[in-house]
Amino acid sequence: MKNQKTIFLSKKMNSGKLFLAAFIIGAFVIAGMFQGCYKDSVQPTVIPYTPHSPNDTAATVHYSTDIQPALNTNCVGCHSEFSSYGSLMAVTPALVNTATPSSSIIYLKIHSGTMAAYAPAGFDAKILTWITEGAHNN
Ligand code: HEC
Repeated sequence: MKNQKTIFLSKKMNSGKLFLAAFIIGAFVIAGMFQGCYKDSVQPTVIPYTPHSPNDTAATVHYSTDIQPALNTNCVGCHSEFSSYGSLMAVTPALVNTATPSSSIIYLKIHSGTMAAYAPAGFDAKILTWITEGAHNN
């Protein structure tokens, strides 16, 4: 009888430990999910001006090295507002449309509009890719 009681107790202990282990694992999984959401929600829409920022390794076109130098050389002489990311993005009506990148005024003007003659070869495609990738200040 005494033996049976001991076995019963130890069985109870095991299921208790199992429950505890499952609880701890569950807590970590849930904590991990929350951390994922937290990280997503603090992801900045405009990435700080750091050339080839490690935050933006996904981008193939970078504003600081691929867009601004070409604007300086080919456009700023007539469009002083294209001399920085801030002033370019402040132009109204907006020249950049991240919702429908191929409808962006700046892209259309150099792709098939009156500004095509001033744009270096391939600049329209670069601008379009930059806008498609979120038009970040990267
Ligand atoms: C020789 C001067 C000159 C140069 C160089 C020039 N532009 Fe323009 N741009 C103009 C004029 C004038 C207009 C207004 C007439 C028109 O829209 O065609 C204009 C209009 C625009 C517009 C329409 C919206 C707005 O802000 O007025 C965009 C976008 C634009 N240019 C982009 C560019 C880009 C990008 C470059 C460089 C690749 C460039 N331009 C080079 C003179 C220039």
